[in-house]
Order: sequence, then structure tokens, then C-alpha cells
Amino acid sequence: MESNVGGIVESKSKRIEESVAGNGLLHRRVFLTQAGALFGAGTMGMLGSETTNAQNMQGRPAWMQSPGKGVGAYGTRARFEDHVQRAAGSAPGTTGAGASRTPLQHLEGIITPNSLHFERHHSGIPEIDPNEHRFLIHGLVDRPLIFDMDMLSRYPMISKIHFIECSGNSRVSGLIDEPVDQNCGMLHGLVSCSEWTGVPLSILLDEAGVDPSARWILAEGSDSAAMSRSVPMAKAMDDAIIAIYQNGERLRPDNGYPMRLFLPGFEGNTSVKWLRRIKVTAEPTMTKDETSKYTDLLDDGTSLMFTYPMAVKSVITSPSPGLDLNGAGIYEISGIAWSGGGHISKVEVSADGGSTWGEAALSEPVLDRSLTRFRMAWRWNGAPTVIMSRAIDNTGAIQPTRDSIIAEKGMKFAYHYNGIQSWAIDAEGRAVNTYV
Ligand code: CO
Repeated sequence: MESNVGGIVESKSKRIEESVAGNGLLHRRVFLTQAGALFGAGTMGMLGSETTNAQNMQGRPAWMQSPGKGVGAYGTRARFEDHVQRAAGSAPGTTGAGASRTPLQHLEGIITPNSLHFERHHSGIPEIDPNEHRFLIHGLVDRPLIFDMDMLSRYPMISKIHFIECSGNSRVSGLIDEPVDQNCGMLHGLVSCSEWTGVPLSILLDEAGVDPSARWILAEGSDSAAMSRSVPMAKAMDDAIIAIYQNGERLRPDNGYPMRLFLPGFEGNTSVKWLRRIKVTAEPTMTKDETSKYTDLLDDGTSLMFTYPMAVKSVITSPSPGLDLNGAGIYEISGIAWSGGGHISKVEVSADGGSTWGEAALSEPVLDRSLTRFRMAWRWNGAPTVIMSRAIDNTGAIQPTRDSIIAEKGMKFAYHYNGIQSWAIDAEGRAVNTYV
């Protein structure tokens, strides 16, 4: 069967296999125009009439022999998909301080299901009664305002598709001396992407009347850590949302029910969950969450503070560790790219360890500060190699190599690591995290 498929490809190779970079990277037209020849005809075409008759007449599976389950009030996935789980871990000695990671390698497209959205909590998930919850705007304003859920829901809402990423995401993929042997979700799964719906914060701040001396806001959560961050007024007035819905349903408790701040492109913790107040201030408040952590320690002992936007990044989700290639042949390399600085303008893929690069196809929609899906056709020859991707955003920012990041910033920092991810593929088709 393998040789049959290969024969079809070989006989038309001039037309359908257009090389775009070394070691088998192909123009995506190979999928758009010849998919049947590459996959379908080679296998299905070989079935005889006896086989197809058996499937039609005698081979009725068990699920066709009696009516199925009835309708249900709240959906659940197929039990065969139960292995697709977040990877959850708490800090030693705690139950509520920790994170769970999105299994990026099992997902496609750009939207993360709410049940698989990553979490990061500093003191567990509060159980908030929305009827009791209040949200206060105070500080340097003409009129302090307090909202309950009903009042807030009367304001005009907007919906935006954006990623959110923990600033510590990907640290273990590159800032450890030896490559950590983990899958894509464990290494990069502190990023997820949703449609967020809520009220623009600028509307509420305008109503409160911001004093001209105000340059910052403090946002405080209603968890028992009172997680709080300072955010520049310019961001608050630009595109900040008080989010109430995520992917069409109310926020889940693990993502801030009943309301959270949402700051497109900024490091995740600034999108304060379980939001209870915003204080308008002249200066940053210097909370524990922006002095004892979420600063970036440099080699010379100084630290960068208030490093908000998440940098341009990409990762190949398939193939990746745990998703093995099944023999030499044509594959689609699939991955995600994103940038806190804007939209993704280009993703390049290498199948020869970075010697040559080909431009991947970007799947629509390509949105501002959203995950973007990229795809690249690849004829794997069965030999060990290294595959990698690098993203470029519309500001011209290019995802850097691990070496260049370490040369510039050292290895003491823990946040905002965005180095190129390399997967080594061995002769058996297994992928593993590697440094080049
Ligand atoms: Co930062």
C-alpha cells in the first residue's frame, strides 16, 4: 500500500510536489489539489466489492442495532476522548496555588474549549455567589461607582477573540540546562484562546469621571490572596474588557466567575479574575504580586518590572511528543502562533534543524492578539531530523532562538520566554523536546 501511494505521487511529482524548503517541506497546494491522490485513492481504491458489500450489509456495528441515548440538558464529550485532559499541578505544600495546562497537542483550530482552558490560581478558586458579588470603581474619580451583576449587564457589550497567556509559559521549554522531556501542553500549555464578551472598561471609567492626574489603575481579585496588579491607564482606556462570558457561556469559576478583567495581549495575571474593585491611581500600587513575583531578574541582579505584553511565539503541535509519525510519507505539520503585539503576519517552518525555512499557510481567521493556526505540508523521508517554527508579527517582531535569548537576558528570568521550539524526530517517528 505504501508503494502504491508513493507511485501515484511519483508519477505526478513534477506537478504536485513543489518544494518550498529543505528536507521535504512542500507547498500547501499539495493538499488543496491532490489530497485524494495522496491519501484516499491509494487506500480506499484498493477495497474490493466483497469488502464494501460486507460493510454495507453484514457489518452493521453495534451502535446501529438499537436506538441511541436520548437528548441531554448539558453536553459531555465522547468517552473515547477522556484522555484529553489538562495537566494540573499545585505548588508544594499548597492546594490552591498552582496551574493546569491546556493539552495543545490534542486540539485543532484556534479556540480552546472552556473545560480545557489553562488555569493559574494564587489561592484557589473562590465560590462566588453572583447575587452577592459587587464591583467597585473608586480612587481618583469624580463619582465612585458600585455595580452588581444586573447593573453591569445593562451596559453595551462587545465580543473579541483573544489568547491569554501566563507570563511563565514556556519557561521549562528553554530555560533549563538540559531539554525537559515533556509534551507540548506541559511545555507550552499556559496559553489558551477564547471569545470573551463583556463591557469595555473605558465606558465605566468615563462614567466614573477619571481625574486628569490619574495614570494607573489597581485591579484586585476576590480570591483569598486578593491577587492584584497595577495597569497603565492607557491600557485600561484602550481595549480592556470587564468579561462576563467566555465562548458564549458565563465564565467558569476557574476563569473568574462572575467577572474578570481582560487585557488583550498582556501577561495573564494582569487580567485579574473574580474582579472586585478597580482603584484609579496616580502611580502603580506596587502590590506583592508585582514586587515579589512577575518581575524579570537579569544577570546583573536588576529586575525588569511591569513587563506586560506577551512576545511573538509559535509552536508545532503536530507532530509533537506523544503524536508519533507512522512511517515515511506525506504529513501536515500543524501549529499555533500568537503575539501580544498584534496579529501574526508570517510563520516559517524548518524540517532540517533551521538550515532552510519555508513559509507556512495561515488558516483564517488571522486575528489581532489571537492564536493563529498554521499548516505546512511535509514529505518525511523517514530519517531523523529536527522540525521547528518561528513566527513574525505585524510589528516586524521575530520569534528568537533560544541561544539569542540567553545571550541577551541570561537564564535567571522566569517570564516572557519565547524561544523557537525544536522537536527532534527519530527514525521511529517519535518527537522529543531538543535544543539545537
Ligand atoms: Co511580565
